Order: sequence, then C-alpha cells, then structure tokens
Amino acid sequence: MRYVLIVALVGAVAIAAEEPKKDAKLTKKEVGKMMKDAHKGDKSAQVAVETELKKDAPDWDAVAKSAKTFDAMGAAFARVELGYSSPATYIAATKALMKAAGDKDKKAATDALAALNKSCVSCHRYGGAGGALR
Ligand code: HEC
Repeated sequence: MRYVLIVALVGAVAIAAEEPKKDAKLTKKEVGKMMKDAHKGDKSAQVAVETELKKDAPDWDAVAKSAKTFDAMGAAFARVELGYSSPATYIAATKALMKAAGDKDKKAATDALAALNKSCVSCHRYGGAGGALR
C-alpha cells in the first residue's frame, strides 16, 4: 500500500515536471493587478459575490461572473513563480463556488467563499509570494 502511494507520488511529480509551459510567465505586477481586480476594493469580484450572498435571492449570474474571475486568477497562478506557496486551496474553493453558482445553492456558495477567504494565507504570510495582506 505504502509502495503504491510512493509510486503514485513520484509519478505525479514527474508529470508535473514534464508539463509543457504553454503560456508565457506573468510578472508579479500583472498578478498583483489581477489580484486587486479579484479581491481588493468596492469594484472587486470578491465584494460583488459577498454582496450577492448577503441577499435573500442572490443574482446567480453575478456570483458566477465573480467565480469566473477567481478561476482566471487560479489559472494565472500557474504562470508565476510562487516558491513553496500552493494555489490548490484557492482553486478548489473557486471550483466549489462555480458549482454552487450553477446549482443556485446559497449555503454551498457561502461555504465556498469562506474557504476561498481562508486560502489567502497559503500565499500571503511571512512575506511569501504576495506578501502580507494589507
Ligand atoms: C497561490 C498564491 C496566492 C493566493 C492563494 C492568493 N494570493 Fe494574493 N497575491 C499573490 C501574488 C503572487 C501576488 C502579487 C504580489 C506581488 O506584487 O509581488 C498577490 C497580490 C495580491 C494583492 C495585491 C497587493 C497589492 O497591493 O499589490 C491582493 C490585494 C491580494 N493578493 C489579495 C489576496 C486575497 C484576498 C486572497 C485570498 C482570497 C489571495 N490574495 C490569495 C498570490 C496569491
């Protein structure tokens, strides 16, 4: 059992290493701009989805639109050097939010948003990629 797990892990690492880099790298500045559009300020996708989920009848198209912005953000992480930080929890929460928007499921969407908010620390701490959140 343990052997199988190790083989699986080694295999996964090998695949990740061989994956062709299709897209050009993004600069930290470009990522910072995307992050601001997604997560900072009144016009951000984050505030939009938070506003909708406070309503009794959220506009699910608006929730889906915000989730798409986070999805693009998640994809962009593959194009920037993050060091040891992983976008996995951010991407998982985004996928959950997209599904919840499709299902028009307010509880699931609220949980997904909470998970997304918790995912920030996987990058934003101790001056790692992204630095301390302001
Ligand atoms: C996978 C790593 C990762 C995750 C997860 C992540 N960020 Fe970032 N974030 C970055 C990187 C990289 C930058 C660009 C930093 C730079 O300019 O050097 C950034 C920049 C930012 C900026 C812009 C900072 C500025 O003023 O220029 C904000 C705001 C931000 N992130 C908020 C968030 C929030 C809120 C979350 C959680 C919902 C989050 N980030 C999750 C990696 C991440």
